Amino acid sequence: MMILKSIWRSWTNQWHHLWQQRIFYGAIAAITAVLVFGIHSFVLSQQPVQVSILMQALERSQWEPIVERFEEENPDIDLEIVEGPNATNLVEDLYTSAFLLGDSIYDIVYMDIVWTPKFAAAGWLEPLDDRVSDEELSAFLEGDIEGGRYDGKLYRMPFRSDAGMLYYRKDLLEENGFEPPETTEELIEISQTLQEQGDVEWGYVWQGRQYEGLAAVFVEVLEGHGGFWVNPETEEVGLDEPEAIAALEFLTDTIDQGISPTGVTTYQEEEARRFFQNGRTVFMRNWPYVWPLANEDDSAVQGKIAIKPMVHQAGFNSGACQGGWGLALVKDSPHKEEAWRVIEFMTSESVQKQFILDTAYVPSRRSLFNDPDIVAEYSHYPDLLEVQERSVLRPPIAQYAQASDILQRNLSSALTGRLSPQQAMEQAAAETRRLLGRA
Ligand code: GLC
Repeated sequence: MMILKSIWRSWTNQWHHLWQQRIFYGAIAAITAVLVFGIHSFVLSQQPVQVSILMQALERSQWEPIVERFEEENPDIDLEIVEGPNATNLVEDLYTSAFLLGDSIYDIVYMDIVWTPKFAAAGWLEPLDDRVSDEELSAFLEGDIEGGRYDGKLYRMPFRSDAGMLYYRKDLLEENGFEPPETTEELIEISQTLQEQGDVEWGYVWQGRQYEGLAAVFVEVLEGHGGFWVNPETEEVGLDEPEAIAALEFLTDTIDQGISPTGVTTYQEEEARRFFQNGRTVFMRNWPYVWPLANEDDSAVQGKIAIKPMVHQAGFNSGACQGGWGLALVKDSPHKEEAWRVIEFMTSESVQKQFILDTAYVPSRRSLFNDPDIVAEYSHYPDLLEVQERSVLRPPIAQYAQASDILQRNLSSALTGRLSPQQAMEQAAAETRRLLGRA
């Protein structure tokens, strides 16, 4: 009996001991797990939140100083700039595919003014009306704010504005006693004279490639001939009206008359800029970003250039295409608050001023056009405000991307001689009417 008792005691003791050990090790394991989890979450919470934006390659490097400044002032946010192609419609396609696939990796859209209706109508963006007051918005150019609205709501904060204009060789015009041209006829005449004299190889370069830049060129010529593309209120299409055909004839004439090189039909902004900057042409249509680049030390035209509003047909007005870029908040972003902090920072007056001083892009805040530091660097800015405030919008309709594609394709057919200007415009008008359901 004694023996049995002692066996039982030793057996229960062992079990007891085993249980104690189990509890002990279990507790250690649980504490370790809690600690590891806690430390892990702590480390994660200390790591900066990543906010991503996609933008054109050209601009990515220009953003570097302001991205650095943002990250220094906001160590909890890592601002990731993803580099895309330079053509606006290709960047638009990349954003569009990301949104269509769902779970977009972008938190902010760096958005061309012409994308607003499509992106807003598709429901990809967060309305910003609750985040910014009317008073804050009144500091920006009206065209830039309007270009960020769709269906009465604001979706895009303006970052920089843009307007197309005519660059010319001030030196060549002065030496030859010419005033800067007002009309298309004057531009052709000055070009031909200077080309015949052998002063310059070509007269006029512009963006003639089949892409969004060509649509921007065309709205200016169209305005300068008294025509219209699509009336956004009535959806009436004006592309087959005589004014629109005459506008396209001006562009085809520049090629047929040897004022523009045939290669102009492959040019985007950068090709035209290089051509002008190498001193090969008297006139160029481009955006304001060219100014500081064409005035750099290695430019053949440094100090020899000036800008003015686009030429027009006698009796009509100059048209400057309203361009520009802004920042929009992606509706499904998991980091909306951080993304909004980026937008607030980038669109603030002091950051915009720094960016403009570095790059000579056009401000979207009205006060900066007359800012003494900016005017000291770029004396033409007060004049730019006037050009900017008279700029022409491309039609703000949800089907803009398709409408622009139709126009670009048909313009390109005429510029490369596959269709006459009249055929091209009739076809463009018919396709646009079908697109808008007005056929
Ligand atoms: C500029 C303008 C933009 C336009 C593009 C065309 O980037 O700011 O609005 O669509 O040029 O190439």
